[in-house]
Amino acid sequence: MPMSTRAPLNSIPTGPDKAPFVHRLFSQVAPTYDLLNRVLSAGQDRGWRRAAARRANLNPGDRALDVATGTGDLARELKSIVGAEGLVVGLDFCRPMLTLAIERNRLAHADVPYVEGDAMNLPFGDNTFNASTIAFGARNVIDLPRLFREMTRVARPNGRVVCLEISRPVMPGLKQAFHLYFSRILPWIARLFHSRRSNYAYLPASLAIFPERDEVARMMSYAGLCDVTVTNLTGGIVAVFTGRKPETEG
Ligand SMILES: C[S@@+](CC[C@H](N)C(=O)[O-])C[C@H]1O[C@@H](n2cnc3c(N)ncnc32)[C@H](O)[C@@H]1O
Repeated sequence: MPMSTRAPLNSIPTGPDKAPFVHRLFSQVAPTYDLLNRVLSAGQDRGWRRAAARRANLNPGDRALDVATGTGDLARELKSIVGAEGLVVGLDFCRPMLTLAIERNRLAHADVPYVEGDAMNLPFGDNTFNASTIAFGARNVIDLPRLFREMTRVARPNGRVVCLEISRPVMPGLKQAFHLYFSRILPWIARLFHSRRSNYAYLPASLAIFPERDEVARMMSYAGLCDVTVTNLTGGIVAVFTGRKPETEG
């Protein structure tokens, strides 16, 4: 599966150096992560996660896994759907983010357990969850096809795999505005929160090397999913990729 051919920007390590870089970055930005999210998305991020949660097609009593859960916002959205009889587990490899997720649970009276683990090697058996989801995490992993294979593996037959990610706008006019925002304004705002250049330069750089929509959708199909769809939100600033694990594999 060919990845995007655009050259990675200097500020992002690739290959084996990327995971420790990402781990360190999120450990450093954890305390201001939620606030920065709200500011940078102009308050849109919650609605985007809600839309992704709906696409997981969950029912009360179901089980779901939220990969790269961070401070747990999507995990809690999923929990509000599956209810007290259901189970949502949040997984992340960055302990400071999970510490905040536990604190946010307490404030929201949410019962979501968190697991410290690697998205590249999910510590769950095959066919465990009715849905596996990831929000704004796919850009950060070192091997995207492997992420989708792992998320598909742990999903039950007929279960959904949902990926919410920043994308490139499709609406004319918005494209140029988005480019200006991402390359100039966003790093400037992020700089107010984080003095380290590598931290505020990472977001636009990671988006620049993220594959196009159809490439991501193809990866999901190759991971074994069917009915793969892409839904653009807010003019395509973000996209929700959804796939279904077939009833019988192969
Ligand atoms: C941009 S944050 C997204 C957090 C959350 N899902 C949200 O919607 O705000 C990306 C998260 O991915 C996590 N992450 C990156 N690579 C990972 C990996 N290989 N395994 C587990 N977590 C990972 C980071 O620690 C970070 O918490």
